[in-house]
Amino acid sequence: MDKTLLLLLVITVCVFSSSAQLSVGFYGRTCPRVESIVKRVALDKFKQAPTSAAATVRLFFHDCFGCDASVTLASTPANRAEKDADINKSLAGDAFDSVMKAKKAVEAECPGVVSCADVLAILTRDFVGLTGGPTWQVKKGRRDGRISRAEAATANLPGAEFSVNQLLKNFATKGLNLVDLVSLSGAHTFGFAHCDQFSSRLYNFSSSNRMDPTMSSSFASDLKKSCPIRGGNPNLVEPFDPVTPFEFDNAYYKNLLAGRGLVTSDQELYSDRRTRKLVRLFSKKRQRFFNAFADAMDKMGSIGVKTGTSGEIRRDCSRIN
Ligand code: HEM
Repeated sequence: MDKTLLLLLVITVCVFSSSAQLSVGFYGRTCPRVESIVKRVALDKFKQAPTSAAATVRLFFHDCFGCDASVTLASTPANRAEKDADINKSLAGDAFDSVMKAKKAVEAECPGVVSCADVLAILTRDFVGLTGGPTWQVKKGRRDGRISRAEAATANLPGAEFSVNQLLKNFATKGLNLVDLVSLSGAHTFGFAHCDQFSSRLYNFSSSNRMDPTMSSSFASDLKKSCPIRGGNPNLVEPFDPVTPFEFDNAYYKNLLAGRGLVTSDQELYSDRRTRKLVRLFSKKRQRFFNAFADAMDKMGSIGVKTGTSGEIRRDCSRIN
């Protein structure tokens, strides 16, 4: 058998066997109210800071190339943790705060029982639902990791300038396929990105094109106003979807059809003929997108999980016990 095929087979078996140990009713006896406790925190946090929803969904993704809450661990003098990798520096404080608050509320009722990784998985599902998106049953039983390395985040996470080839390869190493890639990218239907993540598309795209030719020119003009070539505010963010930036809907795909994808990896999904068909489908059929997204989130939430006796149930999500 070809080496790549063998590797894919091994990954699929690993993802499947770990997800087989997760279950919806995992805390049925040990913490039966866990879901309602987390939901309450999500609601309160969302009222206070609506940006927490998209921020938490992104945090889950960045954790879930090995869903073990390693992304919430703080660095120590001897170790630079994942959250301090360059690619993770823009993860929003409100996402971490949501996890800390939810974990604290759960600990008050069921001390030492529910992992930070499961809290993050439940929170994410709740935030998607609160913003108008689909809902799904969260399988639980993940345990928390004791290792968190900045280099691993840098090596594993996809970059904003990735092509579809690179994205497909990156997702395949985690057992995720083309449908997962297109549906999960739909999370860019809400939330924000910093100018430096897309400004090369506006000013120095390539030797023959200053601007990315796949970008709508009116969209580019709007972005140039907020993100000037020089002297802009590095903290400024632009919405992925300027019309409904706090709503989880299928506007992302409609935007791609109009050349209004914010980062390269978004617009590429419409430029590449392998992914274009699905973009078109999701732009027309919101429910098809919602179903595919829910399935892919379930699948992503099982990647590299620790179950049984590996890892631990952290008491404080920012430190190992
Ligand atoms: C396909 C590859 C992906 C790439 C290259 C990518 C890249 C990015 C970039 C560059 C940002 C902006 C960061 C900033 O400047 O603050 C961002 C934000 C975001 N990403 Fe992704 N992403 C990808 C996939 C995903 C997936 C799979 C999800 C979740 C299922 C996701 C959820 C989000 C969300 C919700 C935001 C907005 C965060 C906020 O407003 O705080 N992304 N992503």
